[in-house]
Amino acid sequence: HLNKVTIPDIKHRKHGTPIAELTAYDYPWAKLVDEAGIDIVLVGDSLGMVVLGYPDTVSVTMEEMIHHTRAVVRGVQRALVVTDMPFGSYNSSIPEAISNATRILKEGGADAVKVEGGVEMAETVAAIVRAGIPVQGHIGLTPQTATSLGGFKVQGKSAQAAGKLIADARALEEAGCFSVVLEAIPAPLAEHITQEITIPTIGIGAGPGCDGQVLVIHDAVGLYDRFTPKFVKQYARLNEPVAKALAQYKKDVESRAFPAAEHSFTMKPEEMDKLLQ
Ligand code: KIV
Ligand code: NA
Repeated sequence: HLNKVTIPDIKHRKHGTPIAELTAYDYPWAKLVDEAGIDIVLVGDSLGMVVLGYPDTVSVTMEEMIHHTRAVVRGVQRALVVTDMPFGSYNSSIPEAISNATRILKEGGADAVKVEGGVEMAETVAAIVRAGIPVQGHIGLTPQTATSLGGFKVQGKSAQAAGKLIADARALEEAGCFSVVLEAIPAPLAEHITQEITIPTIGIGAGPGCDGQVLVIHDAVGLYDRFTPKFVKQYARLNEPVAKALAQYKKDVESRAFPAAEHSFTMKPEEMDKLLQ
């Protein structure tokens, strides 16, 4: 519990040192992310795409989010753990949204939840916050409803669409969010929103003017090659050394180069002789 990051810590970072947020979905990656000093570990519903192999995030369930959150929490000592509420877990009624958010904290062990949507979701967000559960908002390109937005594309490019996003950000601030993710919006608009609201903005494809940044870890380290958005910076290409290692393993097994003597156990020759008598 070395200086565990708190909600007030994140709020105090407004206009301060930018907040670093990164996803993780299991114990070893959560441990690496936490030990790197990342402030927020997000158990994103991108889980569905980069780990579970679904084509989108819509089919991810509460059970899957809780299962992976539990693994992440075991690997984290310092970072704040935020878990995405999956599609369908907060849109049917406020009581159901509160009960699902509560499960993510009680059963999953997360510190906070993340919810997609702006003005239309503000009442639900306010109710979750009133129930004592910290909420990170998420506006702009919201993958759970990307089909309605016309696909995975930049949002808020027209003055009218930008105005709606400003209203969304204000509504989430008003609803009590402790921060808000701005996904795939023009940099000048993200900078403007960042000046307009008092909670930290966390950008992904939203330019350098935000109070923090977030990326999907599989994109950042090159472990997911089905699709890489323009806004991703790839810090490593782990696919390559892993593929090379696996090919070498197969070769070694087939040639009996592995296991060598140092990977094998011995027994006294006389014991073997006794056995064979
Ligand atoms: O699911 C996710 O990983 C996210 C981030 C990209 C913000 O929502
Ligand atoms: Na998400």
